[in-house]
Amino acid sequence: MTDETNTEPSADSGHPPGLMDKLVSLAKRRGFVFQSSEIYGGVGSVYDYGPLGIELKNRIQQLWWREMVHRYPNIVGIDAGILMNPEVWVASGHVGAFTDPLVECRNCHRRFRADDLPQLEAGDPEAQQCSVCGTTGQWTDPRQFNLMFKTFMGVVEDEAATVYLRPETAQGIFVNFRNVQESVRQKVPFGIAQVGKAFRNEITPGNFIFRTREFEQMEMQFFVAPGTEDEWFEEWKTRRMAWVESLGIRVDRLRFHRHGPDELAHYCRDASDIQYRFPFGWQEFEGIHNRTDYDLGRHQEHSGKKLEYFDQPANRKYLPYVIETSAGLSRTLLVVLADAYDEEEVGGQKRVVLRLKPALAPFQAAVFPLVKKGGMPEIAEKLAGELRGRFNVFHDIAGSIGRRYRRQDEAGTPFCLTIDGQTLEDETCTVRDRDSLEQIRVPLSGVAAWLGAAVGGASPGA
Ligand code: GAP
Repeated sequence: MTDETNTEPSADSGHPPGLMDKLVSLAKRRGFVFQSSEIYGGVGSVYDYGPLGIELKNRIQQLWWREMVHRYPNIVGIDAGILMNPEVWVASGHVGAFTDPLVECRNCHRRFRADDLPQLEAGDPEAQQCSVCGTTGQWTDPRQFNLMFKTFMGVVEDEAATVYLRPETAQGIFVNFRNVQESVRQKVPFGIAQVGKAFRNEITPGNFIFRTREFEQMEMQFFVAPGTEDEWFEEWKTRRMAWVESLGIRVDRLRFHRHGPDELAHYCRDASDIQYRFPFGWQEFEGIHNRTDYDLGRHQEHSGKKLEYFDQPANRKYLPYVIETSAGLSRTLLVVLADAYDEEEVGGQKRVVLRLKPALAPFQAAVFPLVKKGGMPEIAEKLAGELRGRFNVFHDIAGSIGRRYRRQDEAGTPFCLTIDGQTLEDETCTVRDRDSLEQIRVPLSGVAAWLGAAVGGASPGA
């Protein structure tokens, strides 16, 4: 992990060529991610998580929750509604300032973010070519486009009934600051964490699940005494990077990117992104933000309710400052998939393997009978049944053993347990390691304990 200066696409990131297309294909083939409403031709940049995708997403979320809520006595969780009083978004500044500059090509009517077009940014619209139709210099003037989705609450569809789909989960935390602090008697410094859906009407979504219009965030607002925010900002940077590394992400594909003054969101005084080196360049998937007392201050002003904290030992009242850690759950999942994807040649054949950390894998093990006879299927079924409940186990009897191994390699299953001829003699099974391809024998009676140790204790989902 490094501190960054450049943001160029990375030719030498070590990813296999054409990784993004390969990931999209594998994600569909193995049941990780599907296009939403696919049978109707899809819908703009919304994705569904399939049986393996939801397992992986749940694992990431559970590990995050364990790290960010259960680990610290002074952090608690909440689950706020997606729909909120619209005044929340006026107070937070999102109605006025959560915008991107939008331009349209007058020839093909495609729309772009003006800040994605370098010549336009440089003040030379005549030199900027449209990437869709190739026309040069036919741009409308930029206008500010608000990214919040609107809908109506109640039976009358008019301006007064407008509500927004939240564009960040953070505001559900700020408006509950007082409720949480008083109900569970937390003292500053303390944090409130939340995982949930967020929605943004992105002008240029893309790169598969990297930028979508519906996504999930894992956010934590840490309330601190004014004057201590810079210290906490550095502390949370360190803690968050350590957690990301604990997922098994390659450290040479991780770095911090500190925001320049022109990059800062309207609520931020300081921000540092954790970036990953995707095949399409260095990009953020988590931000650590110093939000000052901006949000509590604005909500205090707009709601007319006091949100100050009384610091008894210091005998003073203040609005706490906030250090926010804001990670995209769906984007972290893309980082995990991109980092785990690998190809190699084994016995003259290409092998595709997801080298997921065992604690993240959708299935911790697969159980196979070598052949469908000789009592092997029954023993395999019994073993799978015994392991279920503690582990997520896949039981497969279809196709050759080689094909079953390949399917599990693509699913990222770290261990395959095979019931074979020797099992009938000595009640052991073959355990094949996904990464090294080594095979060892483990007694059937000891498989659960062996697997527990190999995946890091209890089932990650337990
Ligand atoms: N509460 C602060 C906040 O929302 P942000 O930098 O706008 O900050 C935080 O978003 C994280 O949410 C990003 O680092 C990214 O992982 C995720 N995110 C934001 N927009 C997204 C989108 N359109 N699709 C997927 N993930 C997104």
